Amino acid sequence: MNQDQLKQAVAKAAVDYIRPKLEAYSIVGVGTGSTANFFIDYLAEIKGDFQGAVASSEATAERLKGHGIPVFDLNEVDSMAVYVDGADESNPELALIKGGGAALTREKIVAAVADEFVCIADSSKWVDCLGQFPLPVEVIPMARSYVARELLKLGGDPVYRQGVLTDNGNVILDVHNMQIDKPIELERAINSIVGVVTNGLFAERSADVLLLGGTDGVKEIR
Ligand code: 5RP
Repeated sequence: MNQDQLKQAVAKAAVDYIRPKLEAYSIVGVGTGSTANFFIDYLAEIKGDFQGAVASSEATAERLKGHGIPVFDLNEVDSMAVYVDGADESNPELALIKGGGAALTREKIVAAVADEFVCIADSSKWVDCLGQFPLPVEVIPMARSYVARELLKLGGDPVYRQGVLTDNGNVILDVHNMQIDKPIELERAINSIVGVVTNGLFAERSADVLLLGGTDGVKEIR
């Protein structure tokens, strides 16, 4: 199986996993990226089983609408049964690096609202220690150089993601060579730099379950 087939397998597994939890009034939070896109395509097959979705990006909203799935503004929603999204890395505690697709802030907001965060990933995303994937940090544009200097002090090598503006109108710094052996502490430290909107560590609110796709099938990891 190639990587796309593994992503499809975990996307299908996610629909099977959430389906029994859904009621006619349920809202599903939906992430961003290629794995999330496969999930949206399978989710469309059961769109009669739930009320609608909240999207973590404009791209996801467009894909959901293209399938005829109603998309709600998060402010219209009181509760969310489940949030399903991919990741760039997961460690065994299900702390994640996300934001390869620059959607980290809205992803983190939607994940915060959801009762359950289901992460879906192929086995290439599984690591013992986070940080081989450069850590994305969303930054207010005028603070870019200041935040980069502060990230250097924390031991990372920030690189400006040229030509990318987030859905919120901000820029991304990708932090290379960061040793992430204390993900929660680092998530807090980076978020406390003035000018940072948020960073791609999902450690304070890690995933509740990871559906990890490998050549031997999809494993459910808690
Ligand atoms: C987007 C994300 C994605 O979930 C992450 O980049 C994984 O993407 P893909 O499923 O395409 O491998 O965090 O901001």
